Amino acid sequence: MSNFKDIYNQSINNPENFWQDISNDVFWFKKPTKILDKSNPPFYKWFSDGVTNTCYNALDVHIDNGKGQKTALIYDSPITGQKLKFTYEELRSKVSKFAGGLKEQGVNKGDRVIIYMPMIPEAVIAMLACARIGAIHSVVFGGFASDELASRIDDSTAKILVTASCGFEPGRTVEYKPLVDEALKKAKHKIEKLILFQRKDHEVKLSSSNELDWQEVVSKAKDVDCVEMNSNDLAYILYTSGTTGTPKGIVRDIGGHIVALKWTMKNIYNIDEDDVWWSASDIGWIVGHSYIVYAPLFKGCTTVLFEGKPVGTPDAGVFWKIISEHNVKALFTAPTAFRAIKKEDPEGKFFSKHDLSKFKTLFLAGERADPDTIKWAENLLKVPVIDHWWQTETSWAISANCIGIEMMKTKYGSACKAVPGYDVKIIKPDQSLAKPNEMGDIVVKLPLPPGTFPTLWNADNRYKENYMSNYEGYYQTYDAGHIDEDGYIWIMSRTDDIINVAGHRLSTGAIEEVLSEHQSVAECAVLGIADKLKGQLPIGLIVLKAGVDKDNETISKECIQMVRNKIGPVAAFKVVIVVKRLPKTRSGKILRGTIRKIADNVEYKMPATIDDPKILDEIKVSLKENNIIQNA
Ligand code: COA
Ligand code: AMP
Repeated sequence: MSNFKDIYNQSINNPENFWQDISNDVFWFKKPTKILDKSNPPFYKWFSDGVTNTCYNALDVHIDNGKGQKTALIYDSPITGQKLKFTYEELRSKVSKFAGGLKEQGVNKGDRVIIYMPMIPEAVIAMLACARIGAIHSVVFGGFASDELASRIDDSTAKILVTASCGFEPGRTVEYKPLVDEALKKAKHKIEKLILFQRKDHEVKLSSSNELDWQEVVSKAKDVDCVEMNSNDLAYILYTSGTTGTPKGIVRDIGGHIVALKWTMKNIYNIDEDDVWWSASDIGWIVGHSYIVYAPLFKGCTTVLFEGKPVGTPDAGVFWKIISEHNVKALFTAPTAFRAIKKEDPEGKFFSKHDLSKFKTLFLAGERADPDTIKWAENLLKVPVIDHWWQTETSWAISANCIGIEMMKTKYGSACKAVPGYDVKIIKPDQSLAKPNEMGDIVVKLPLPPGTFPTLWNADNRYKENYMSNYEGYYQTYDAGHIDEDGYIWIMSRTDDIINVAGHRLSTGAIEEVLSEHQSVAECAVLGIADKLKGQLPIGLIVLKAGVDKDNETISKECIQMVRNKIGPVAAFKVVIVVKRLPKTRSGKILRGTIRKIADNVEYKMPATIDDPKILDEIKVSLKENNIIQNA
């Protein structure tokens, strides 16, 4: 078997053989004999009698194989000036100590640990320490506010919360402790202990016996070994935006995650054990989980942990500096990072100062990669630039150019072909399968491959109803698009109210829920409008209750602040416009899609079911007055 087509066909025609072969490449305490349990669809189980451990596969196995002195992790923080390197042995030593510390604080197999931390090595250590003792981690992105943290504490009923004294954003120090204190006050569930890592020169006071200093926990702790875990035990919960304000707890089981992610490093990314790999994301997102931490460590290569931004830390040359200094072979980031660099340094002046001879490929994902940005990056870097498509739900790419198998040609605007393991189809509104180039909902035939989500945390029904019911036998991705005659997948839009802001997945429904809580707001609509830098940006339209005597500007400011306080700065929610009425269908549904098209200045049809077409004209005027209509 040598070419992509053969490998792909085998993965679809005989998935059990395909994944069994691949599973031989990972460490098992007990090798699985049952490869796929299909007895209770849509709840499929991979490798159900296998016994393994995530941390063993990330660290110990490489030390057993004589690679203990190899660099596992490079921490480079242009924001603080700190750089550190950890060999596999050094990282294991730190992980096993912290794992011992967690155990001494009463954390056992299956207990949940929330990790709310900036991009520092201790965040990775905490994740791997959980894996070592079989605890389930739930990492919460640092840009979320305390309400979001509180809802994750409640839903996961975590035992311990691990945090740091602060994070650094350009021009701003993010004080975690007050955010954590506020979240703990708001959460109904009470965590037992908080462990805080004190960052140099930014120590904070710990105020009760339940608040522990990381160093103290570690100094008293004993090293612990990896516990044996069933393949279908859970590695982590990662909450992601759903259609309501209640986030969905995407869970990952252990065996399939190790098997699939390790395979992707060579087959999708063409990374071997001696390579240096860099994913410029954040551990709070799925890209960070899979490609800063797990996949590169399963592979046994070197991973870069970067605490900074593509621009402003200190300049638009920082990516090139990191790549050349650490001999990075491939970088994975979101298109928005490249748009930011292109905006600051369109001529690539910073680029020419660095030697990037070891750099071979740029991978982009998280949002649609616009052809302009891809071409700009290709031109500058003179290496292939690969757009690939995936979701928190899957943890690895659904479609990509699998360059470790066979390099395919680029079609600008397409995220290339379905990756082995994923049988991707397009279903039209009449529920029939689409022909090539016909638009529809993008679905994946069940069973999904290993490493994808087997269910939602404590929400089997939500899993079944939300993802597996609209199209029987298929997983509904909530992305729409088409597949062309060569099998290339074109992702065009989301079919729900999820928007993508700088590669960050947000729910407009969740923002609407916050706006509705403002006492002057009668009703509201939030939509994602096109933005040259961030891909999309949310804007809010609000209708005030009768008799409100506050001025519009004050109310708008209050709404913006509420979203920042409740969801977090990451929502980048900066525009609220007061309107008289919202356009609706006769059955009362707000016409968000039509408003978005007006704002984006693209063609739209007057919806046949519109209640009062005049309202759309009023909205157009308001959007124009507020300079929202693109290129108007
Ligand atoms: N902790 C606390 N706050 C955070 C944060 C974190 N980990 N990450 C972002 N924020 C804050 C920012 O400080 C900013 O706050 P502000 O309103 O006070 O300025 C806000 O959230 C929005 O941040 P961001 O989306 O990063 O926008 P930006 O304008 O600061 O930077 C880019 C724009 C393009 C440089 C930036 O989005 C970027 O680097 N993107 C890379 C893509 C990426 O990592 N995607 C993840 C998925 S792959
Ligand atoms: P997340 O779960 O945060 O990874 O977001 C997943 C969503 O991001 C997908 O459902 C898509 O809508 C979008 N997305 C991710 N990668 C791509 C891509 N390469 N092209 C277009 N959209 C993408």
